[in-house]
Amino acid sequence: MFKKVSKVWFTLAMLTCMVLMGAATLSAAAKSKLITIGFSQVGAESDWRTANTKSMRDTFTEANGYKLIFDDAQQKQDNQITALRNFIQQEVDYIVLAPIGETGWDTVLQEAKDAGIPVIIMDRMVNVADESLYTCWVGTNSRGEGDTAAAWMEKTFAGKDKLNIVHLQGTIGSTAQIGRTAGLEDGVKRNKGWKIVAQQTGEFTQAKGQEVMESILKQQSDIDVVYAENDNMAFGAIDAIEAAGKKAGVGGDITVISFDATHAGLQMTLDKKINYNVECNPLHGPRVEVLIKQLEAGQTPEKKAYVEEGAFDATTMTQAILDARAY
Ligand code: AHR
Repeated sequence: MFKKVSKVWFTLAMLTCMVLMGAATLSAAAKSKLITIGFSQVGAESDWRTANTKSMRDTFTEANGYKLIFDDAQQKQDNQITALRNFIQQEVDYIVLAPIGETGWDTVLQEAKDAGIPVIIMDRMVNVADESLYTCWVGTNSRGEGDTAAAWMEKTFAGKDKLNIVHLQGTIGSTAQIGRTAGLEDGVKRNKGWKIVAQQTGEFTQAKGQEVMESILKQQSDIDVVYAENDNMAFGAIDAIEAAGKKAGVGGDITVISFDATHAGLQMTLDKKINYNVECNPLHGPRVEVLIKQLEAGQTPEKKAYVEEGAFDATTMTQAILDARAY
């Protein structure tokens, strides 16, 4: 009897082993079919960036057929170049690069091209001598965003003969900084009374935005507008303004203009602390996936694809808009 029972157990154990081994073989086979993507991300400097990383991680999952190798460059281009070289060595199927700045990419992109790895540029742009060094780009129109903000200022301050502007810039040399700065500076050229009384980088972070604004407030008492090139710097600037005993936003002492329109940024717009917030959409994961699917199908994606974006005025902002915000 004992012998019979132990034989049954043995057979069951063997069968379980075989099923498990089968499953393991199956999953290894499935894994070998995954499309490998090396993704070099700028860092985690802002709410926008966090939402962008999440969008990529949510899209490029194993369940969707991908193996995502994620690298956080901590705001350093050297780290991004090293990450790209590692991806090339690992023979990934695609490289996705969210570049910190526009220049300095020619050599490493040439290496990727020589290795036959398509490179998709996401969000900010690269400025390379040979456009064939990358396959395609998807992102936002930073220059258009700057123009939108300047046009709102022209409408809002029409007839005002003096406008003192504090300009908090993003990471110098990044597309977002270059485009938003150009929009403002062209506005200054068009409008005689506009003056940039301080212009400094806050590196797209809240802490630096606050630190820079605190020091500007100590030197400059006559400020009409803060033009912050992203939400996080605007949050820091608002904290500094309030700590200095002034009021930011609608009906306050200082008008605040921001970019990104993240959930937290739109909350501040609804709270009327940010007067105008120009959208920069970070949900690029599904957009990059469309490009990869086109390439997998042997198609040629558009070289540059701009995302449509809007802008939000505190005086017309609603709870419903905020509730609908996915990031
Ligand atoms: O390149 C997009 C910019 O980068 C966003 O405006 C900013 O928040 C981020 O860090």
